[in-house]
Amino acid sequence: MIISNPKGTQDFLPPYSEQKHYLETQFRKVVALYGFSEIVTPCFEHTELFLRSTGLTTDIVTKQIYSFTDKGGRDLTLRPEGTPGVVRAFLQNNLKPPLRLFYIGPMFRYEKPQKGRYREFYQLGIEVIGEAHPQTDVEVIEMGLNFFSAVNVKDLVVKVNSVGCALCRNRFRSDLIFYLNTVRDKICEDCKARLERNPLRVFDCKETTCQELYQSAPKIADYLCYDCQNHFQIVLQELTERNLPFELDKMMVRGLDYYTRTTFEYVPSLSTALGAQDSLGGGGRYDNLIEDFGGPKIPAIGFALGLERILIYLGNPTLPRKNLVYLIPLDGESEKQAKQLLRQLRTSEIPAILNLPDKNLRSGLGIADNLSCEYVIIIGSEEMKKQVYTVKQLSTKSQQEVPQDKIIEFFNQTFTKQSTKEF
Ligand code: HAM
Repeated sequence: MIISNPKGTQDFLPPYSEQKHYLETQFRKVVALYGFSEIVTPCFEHTELFLRSTGLTTDIVTKQIYSFTDKGGRDLTLRPEGTPGVVRAFLQNNLKPPLRLFYIGPMFRYEKPQKGRYREFYQLGIEVIGEAHPQTDVEVIEMGLNFFSAVNVKDLVVKVNSVGCALCRNRFRSDLIFYLNTVRDKICEDCKARLERNPLRVFDCKETTCQELYQSAPKIADYLCYDCQNHFQIVLQELTERNLPFELDKMMVRGLDYYTRTTFEYVPSLSTALGAQDSLGGGGRYDNLIEDFGGPKIPAIGFALGLERILIYLGNPTLPRKNLVYLIPLDGESEKQAKQLLRQLRTSEIPAILNLPDKNLRSGLGIADNLSCEYVIIIGSEEMKKQVYTVKQLSTKSQQEVPQDKIIEFFNQTFTKQSTKEF
C-alpha cells in the first residue's frame, strides 16, 4: 500500500458507517422535537473568524488550527468547531432571532491523535440565537440528555459551571493572578504562558500537578455579579426540578474564549471506555459573541457532541441483518422470472439484488451473507412449476415456499415488523 489515510483521520466502514448514520438520524429526530432547523455552513472559513471567536489564547487557535493560503492569497482555516460559522452566517444573512439551528459535519483540529481524539472528527451541534432566559440553558442541556438516552448512552452526568460575564471576570482575574504567582514555580511552562495571556485558561491544563494546584485556586463561579449569580441560581434550580443528572464543577471553564455564564459538559459517570477523552459533548452561553462580531447585542447558547466518542462509548455494534433480498435464479428460464421479480420488488420499495449469471447457488449464498441480506429467494424449475418462490431466511436458516402472487405482501409484512430494530 503506497498511500494511507492522513494521521488522525479515519474511514467509516460498515457497520460503523451505518451506526454513524443512525446517530445522525436520532439526533435529527430529537432536535426536531425542540423546533430546530438545519444549517449547513462551509468546512472552511476566513482564518480571522476563528481568531476573533474561538479565541487567540485558546489551545485550538494557538496550536490546533489547519490554516492555509489559497491560490488567491486568502488566509483560510478548516473549521475547528461549528459555532463561529453559524454566527457568521446568522449575521451575514440578516437572520431574524430567536432562532434554533442544528448542524452535523466534520471539524478539524491538529491534535495529538489518541482514542477519542482525532484531527478530523464529526460534531452534532446546535445553536440557539436570541434566547436569554436561563430556562433555555436547561432546555438545551435536557435536549442533549434526551438524545443520549435515545441512543442508549445511559450513565451520563452533566457537569455545569458559570464563567460569568466581563464584570465578574475583572474582579476574579486579579485574585487568580495573585494565587498563580504564589505557585508560579510549580506550574508547567504552558500555564506560565497562560498566566501572562489569559489566566482563566490555566484550568484547561491537563497536567496532574497543575490540576491539583488549581483545586485551591479561586474559582470564577465564586465571583459572579448579581445578574450572573441570579441566572445561574435559576439554572441550578430548574435542573434540580427537572430531576436532571447534573453536578456543579467549578473547575470546568471549557477550552473556548467566547463563553459567558452557563457552561456544561456531558461526561459518562461509570463507563471508562473513553479514557482521558471522556467528554461526549459540551457547550455553553456566548452572550457577547454576536456583538463582538459587529452585530447587535443578541444572547446565544449551544453545544456540540463528539460523534466518534459516542461510537466508542457504545462499543462494537451488533448490527441486525439488512432488509435486503438476494435473488438466485438457477437456470435461464428462472432468470427471466427473477429479473421481473427484481423490478417488482424495487417498485414496491423492497431492496433487492440479483445474483449475476456467472455465480452459482453456493457463491450466491456466500455473497448474500457477506452483504448482510436477511432473505434469499431461490427460483428453479421446481418453483416455476409450482408458481412459488423458495424464501430462505439467513439469520434463522429456515426456509419456506411463498406463492408468487403473495411475495410482495410477504415482504411488506415481515419488513414492517422488523423496522423497529435498533442498534
Ligand atoms: P468543544 O468542547 O471544543 O466545543 O467540542 C465539543 C465536543 O466535540 C467535545 O466534547 C468532544 O466530544 C468533541 N471533540 C472535540 N475535539 C475532538 C477531537 N479532536 N476528536 C474527537 N472529538 C472531539 C465546541 O466545539 C463548541 N463549538 C460547542 C458549542 C456550541 N458551544 C456553544 N455552541
